This record gives sequence, structure tokens and C-alpha cells, in this order.
Amino acid sequence: MGPVMKEKVALVTGASSGIGEMTALAMSEAGARVAVGARRGDRLADLAKRAPGEVLALDLDVTDEQSCRAAVAATVEHFGSLDVLVNNAGLMLSGPIVGADTMEWTRMVRTNLLGTMYTTHAALPHLLRSKGTVVQVSSTSGRIASSGGGVYAATKFGVNAFSEALRREVTAQGVRVVLIEPGFVATELASHITDPTMRAAARDLQNSIHPLRPEDIANAVLYAISQPEHVAVNEILLRPTDQIA
Ligand SMILES: NC(=O)c1ccc[n+]([C@@H]2O[C@H](COP(=O)([O-])OP(=O)(O)OC[C@H]3O[C@@H](n4cnc5c(N)ncnc54)[C@H](OP(=O)(O)O)[C@@H]3O)[C@@H](O)[C@H]2O)c1
Repeated sequence: MGPVMKEKVALVTGASSGIGEMTALAMSEAGARVAVGARRGDRLADLAKRAPGEVLALDLDVTDEQSCRAAVAATVEHFGSLDVLVNNAGLMLSGPIVGADTMEWTRMVRTNLLGTMYTTHAALPHLLRSKGTVVQVSSTSGRIASSGGGVYAATKFGVNAFSEALRREVTAQGVRVVLIEPGFVATELASHITDPTMRAAARDLQNSIHPLRPEDIANAVLYAISQPEHVAVNEILLRPTDQIA
């Protein structure tokens, strides 16, 4: 892809692995200056070395509102503006509701939902100035809840609701809101599941289909944000062709 993001500044949360890492790399290849945030700083430093353009690595824990504010402020201070925020940091601790360790629910809500809200809130004044774009990495679980995925789905339904309200509030001011809803993507996401049955089910699903790759999602993000100003790609839902549910 040509330099469709030349001169643009992006901030990608959860860029230390998987979808966030590939999206940050793809944006860098497209000419953007990219700030990347996550807790594993070593992975971000490695990404910064591999990226063709300038990459600013930031310590970020999205469950901490101050950390979200600091990441946005550091991005704007370093690069001078903010054009694209990618809210990608996320956690999926699948398991049945009965008997669940509710601390896992708290972690998912704080990471997937509140983290996205905090970073969006901190970034909005800058995005209104630049007529920028907010990309929310949601999920098919933001549309369909399944057994064992109740709380994860609740966070992603929440992201979708928040994003639609945000879209209505800011679209007339030229800020675009993009919801990306992937099906199964081969990443580290399911490796953090503590319920052995759910973790095995995720592994079996991955082995029985041709899962999406992180670069497939990065391509969707690049497509959405490289449209002409009058085109708002509101939503992209993509599954592996052989994923049924
Ligand atoms: N894989 C799938 O099948 C799939 C499908 C649909 C949607 N998604 C969504 O895609 C997004 C990325 O997931 P992935 O599949 O790429 O999984 P992944 O490889 O596990 O990446 C998750 C990223 O989120 C970061 N993160 C987690 N907690 C964080 C925190 N408190 N603060 C800052 N960063 C945090 C992780 O970095 P650190 O641990 O270094 O902080 C990591 O970079 C998630 O929102 C996920 O829900 C994934």
C-alpha cells in the first residue's frame, strides 16, 4: 500500500502483540508516525526497531485513567497532533458465569470497556482539532453473545453502544468512528483463559478452521481510515470464511 497515512499521527493501544502490533506496523508502512502503548515495554521496543517509520513506545495500562491521559499527552507532545486513535487493548477470559472468579470480570470490564472510554475521552479534543478517526477494535462478540463468553461479550456490546453514541455526537464535526468486529484471529488472546475447558475449546477451534491473521485486521483498519473525507466506514465485521458461529 502507498503512503496513505503520510504525515498522519496514530496512537495504537495494546500494540505489543497480535492485532495491535500488526496494525501499528501497517500504519508505519503506510507512512504514519505511530505511538504504541502496552504494558510489555520490551515488545514495544522491538516493534519500534522493526517499523520502517518513527515509532514512539509508551508504557500504558489502559485500566489506569491517568496512564491513558499520559499516553495521549505524550503522543501529542512528541508528534504535535493526533489523527487516529486505535483502541485495541483487550482481554478475553472466557468461562461460564456460574462460579466465575469475578476478578476476571473486573479485569475485562476495566480493560476492554473502561480503558477504551478513558483513552477516547483523553484523545477527543485532539481528534476534534484534526478531524481525526477513532477505531474501536470490538468483536463479533459485540453482536452475538455465546455460552462462556458472557462478560467478554458484555464488554464488546458496551464498546459498540459507546461508539454509536460517540459517532452521533462527533460525526458532524468531521470525526469518524470505526467499529472493527473480527471473528477468530490467531493471536495470544485465548492463551490467557484460565478455564481449562474454554482454553481447550479455543485451541480446538483454531486448529479446525483457517483463522484470520492479525494482518487481515490491519488491512481492514487501513481500508477504513484511508477513505476520502466524506466517506465514513462505520463498521467492518469479518470472520474466517470457515467460521460458522
Ligand atoms: N484474537 C481474536 O480472535 C479477536 C477477535 C475479535 C476481537 N479481538 C480483539 O482484538 C484486540 C487485540 O487482541 P489480540 O487478539 O491481538 O490479542 P493479544 O495478542 O493478546 O493482544 C492484546 C493486547 O492488549 C494489550 N493489553 C492487555 N491489557 C492491557 C492493559 N491493561 N493496558 C494496555 N494494554 C493491554 C496487550 O499488551 P500487554 O499485555 O503488553 O499490556 C496486547 O498488546 C482485543 O481488543 C480483542 O478483544 C480479538
